[in-house]
Amino acid sequence: MKSVAIFSIKGGVGKSTTAVNLAHAAATSGGRRTLLWDLDSQGAATYLLKLAPRSGAKARAAVAGETELSDLVLESEFPNLDVLPADKSLRRLEGDLAQTDKLKQLKKHLKSLSSDYDRVIVDCPPGLSELSDRLFRAVDLIVLPIIPSPLSDRAAEQLRAELQKSHGGRPPLLPLWSMADRRRKLHRETIDRHPDWPVIPYASAVEAMAVHQSPVAVNQPGSPAARAFAGLWSRAEMALLNG
Ligand SMILES: Nc1ncnc2c1ncn2[C@@H]1O[C@H](COP(=O)(O)OP(=O)(O)OP(=O)(O)O)[C@@H](O)[C@H]1O
Ligand SMILES: [Mg+2]
Repeated sequence: MKSVAIFSIKGGVGKSTTAVNLAHAAATSGGRRTLLWDLDSQGAATYLLKLAPRSGAKARAAVAGETELSDLVLESEFPNLDVLPADKSLRRLEGDLAQTDKLKQLKKHLKSLSSDYDRVIVDCPPGLSELSDRLFRAVDLIVLPIIPSPLSDRAAEQLRAELQKSHGGRPPLLPLWSMADRRRKLHRETIDRHPDWPVIPYASAVEAMAVHQSPVAVNQPGSPAARAFAGLWSRAEMALLNG
């Protein structure tokens, strides 16, 4: 089993959107048994797949190892794709993390999913925190969405520096251009600084995910955005297999 965290220090950069489309691509075109783990109490990724936590579910307890992760898992409407939904209990996670070392076991909990899944995609809340620290120790790859702007390089560099300082440069980082609008000069110039990074276009097809509550490859198959997410998934797979 290989795991991927979709992470950024910044909010609103397309993490949940990326997590849902990557998980769908992994499960359907990739044929991987995939779990999308929604670790953000806002529950955007859960919502985008038309799901909601079971009543009384406590995702926080699962992170702490008090409940089996697999007890909270729901099937999505897509073959090979399950979801571990977010719920309100995750709001208290950071406080718990600071106090207990139970959560040091996150890596162990993730490993416990190995027999059931080939790929685990984690949708993270924004920001460096105790949780992100534990996650960086546990996952095999970080996917980092970046909106093209003069400050973009800082976002990638800050995260690289943090990984270098606290985690020996692991795990590998796959940055991508998120919400890229090539009609805008500033976007084009910024993207050209790292032309090798995958590009996800700014597209109404992606915005419409929230209306249809399904991945872009389902709503608008063959659209540039759907193709871009398929390409991103190939890059992530390559990084996982080579990493
Ligand atoms: N490629 C895109 N084209 C158009 N709109 C997009 C694109 N990617 C994301 N969006 C929109 O931008 C908003 C933020 O996206 P998303 O929720 O995925 O970001 P996030 O990083 O997960 O945010 P948060 O930090 O709040 O969890 C959403 O309304 C989403 O529909
Ligand atoms: Mg999000």
